[in-house]
Amino acid sequence: MTGTISQEFLVFVDDSTTLSTKLLAERVLSKCRRLTNAEAGSIFIMRGQGASRHLEALSLQNDAIKAKRKLFVIPITPASISGYVATTGDIVFVDDVDRMPDGVPYRFNRAFDLKSGYRTRSIMCFPLKTPEGRVIGVVQLINRLQDGQVEPFQRGFADMIGVVSLLVGRAIERAEALEQIRERNKRLTERNRELKAERTRVLELSKQTEQALMMSVELLARAAEVHDAEVGGHIQRVNEYSYLMATLAGMDKAFCDEIRWAAALHDVGKMSVDQAVLHKPGKLNELEWVEMRAHTAYGWQILAGHPRLAMAREIAHCHHEMWEGGGYPRGLKGEEIPIAARIVALADVYDALRSARPYKPAYSHERAVQVMLHGDERMRPETHFDPNLLALFGSHSEKFAALWTRMADAPKDEAESRVA
Ligand SMILES: [Fe+2]
Repeated sequence: MTGTISQEFLVFVDDSTTLSTKLLAERVLSKCRRLTNAEAGSIFIMRGQGASRHLEALSLQNDAIKAKRKLFVIPITPASISGYVATTGDIVFVDDVDRMPDGVPYRFNRAFDLKSGYRTRSIMCFPLKTPEGRVIGVVQLINRLQDGQVEPFQRGFADMIGVVSLLVGRAIERAEALEQIRERNKRLTERNRELKAERTRVLELSKQTEQALMMSVELLARAAEVHDAEVGGHIQRVNEYSYLMATLAGMDKAFCDEIRWAAALHDVGKMSVDQAVLHKPGKLNELEWVEMRAHTAYGWQILAGHPRLAMAREIAHCHHEMWEGGGYPRGLKGEEIPIAARIVALADVYDALRSARPYKPAYSHERAVQVMLHGDERMRPETHFDPNLLALFGSHSEKFAALWTRMADAPKDEAESRVA
């Protein structure tokens, strides 16, 4: 008989791998009750650690009482029958609760019977164990019925119980572990969702901050333009030439993206230059040149204070430095000059050559390239520019020409005739 029952349980347990602990306990209890013909029963599971260890009811069944009993927890103490079984791992048979055997440490707790009107007589209580022998729960069967009478549970069930408790104990342990994993996964999923939402919020905030920064840069560049009426679309073109040159020089994407807006601020210091000097129609005297050249230092001051403006600040400060020295404001040489400033220096001069200035007409692309690569009476390119960048400019000059064509200012007289 024992073999058949344990086989039956083995199949049952194998079928139960996906059940929740509660459902598994419900089914185990039904099966135990059917096998022993018990009228009622309960399954408890051990919870908590150390002093807070307790038994929690997972399943309560009673054919005689229809009203649902509330699930509850009880402390683990050898004074109660289930507590004793949980503590010792022994099986307890009580043939009649009114006649408890002498010398046993446990006693029957009548509280439930008094409350419900149910009458408990015989009890069989056994532990559920892990394969290592650790008790993880308790099964309590009540009132074995035989021809309508309550009879004691047969001791023969004890052999069967050992096997059953082991099999079911293992299944319950597995279900518990699965449930803990599910619970942990649920918490992790929830946490991931929260983190994702947080990331989206931070990204959105940085996007807004970036937009605000771009807007400030544009406003600042435009304000500088207002002070220096001659420049027209110069700053936008310098942005694009600089971006092109940075790309040709193999700078990384972040650098290229940054220089594309930071270059616009190269002459922002002109806002602080004495207006009389800035707008003087004729030649500047030595003192006036000092003031004009100070736009690099003014730009440095205007852009101070924020790491996000570091490149713009370097450009504003160093775009008039020269490769072989002799530039201003500090007379830096070669790679002492930040690469972003070296790029903008080249872009700035190309655009100035292409544009009409009070002191010179607008040059054709060919003439501008000629001056850039071979110099003229005003400039010696080999002393002025980074030779690597200049070589790149020479090999790709048509791309600069294309940008000029796309972004050139309308000639003044043509604009005026349109207005008229
Ligand atoms: Fe400048």
